[in-house]
Amino acid sequence: MRLVIAITGASGVIYGIRALEILKKLQVETHLILSEWGEKTIRIETDRTGDYARSLASKVYEDTNMAAPVSSGSFKMDGMAIVPCSMRTLASIANGLDDTLISRAGSVCIKEGRKVVIVPREAPLSKIHLENMSKLAGIHNIIIMPAMPGFYHRPQTMDDLINHVVGKILDQFGIDHGLFRRWGESFGKMA
Ligand SMILES: Cc1cc2nc3c(=O)[nH]c(=O)nc-3n(C[C@H](O)[C@H](O)[C@H](O)COP(=O)(O)O)c2cc1C
Repeated sequence: MRLVIAITGASGVIYGIRALEILKKLQVETHLILSEWGEKTIRIETDRTGDYARSLASKVYEDTNMAAPVSSGSFKMDGMAIVPCSMRTLASIANGLDDTLISRAGSVCIKEGRKVVIVPREAPLSKIHLENMSKLAGIHNIIIMPAMPGFYHRPQTMDDLINHVVGKILDQFGIDHGLFRRWGESFGKMA
C-alpha cells in the first residue's frame, strides 16, 4: 500500500507524526508533504521537528513542488490522509485551488476516485468551515474525520487519545493496527 500523508499547520500535528510512526512500523509506503506551517507547528506543539517527521516517511516532498510525482493522477497511490488539516488547506481543496502540493495531491486523489481522509481541526467552527466540510463530505471518496477522540475505550493517557484518532484514520484504509480497544473487543496487538 502507498499512502500520501500531509501535515498542515493546524493544531494536533502529533496525530500526523503518530500516523507516520505506525505506518512505518507496519511497513506501509508513505509519501509525506509537510506544509510550512505544519513544520512550524510541529516545533511549537511538540518536542519533535519536521526532520523527525521526514525521517519516518518513505518519500518526502516540498509543499511548493508542483512537479512532485503525487501531483499527477498517473502516479499510483492508494489514497491520502491530511492530518491534521487546517481550515486554509480545507478551503483550498473544497474550492479546487490546487495552489500547494497538498491541495493539488488532494484534488488529484478526488478526481481519480482514491480515498482522501481529511482530519480537520478548528474550534469553534464557522459556517464557512462547515460549508467547506459539507461540500467535501458530499464527494464519495472523501471522509471527514475530525480530530475528536472517543472516550468509550477508557483512555488513561494522552497517547491513548492520539492512538484513537490515528486508529480511526487507519481503519479507513483497511489497515490492521490494534491501536485502541474496540467496542466489544479486547485489546489488540499494539495497544
Ligand atoms: C500553533 C498554531 C496552531 C494553529 N492551529 C490551527 C488550527 O487548529 N486550525 C486551523 O485551521 N489553523 C490553525 N493555525 C493557523 C494555520 O497554521 C494557518 O492558517 C496556515 O496558513 C495554514 O497553512 P497550511 O494549510 O498551508 O498549513 C495554527 C497556527 C499555529 C501557529
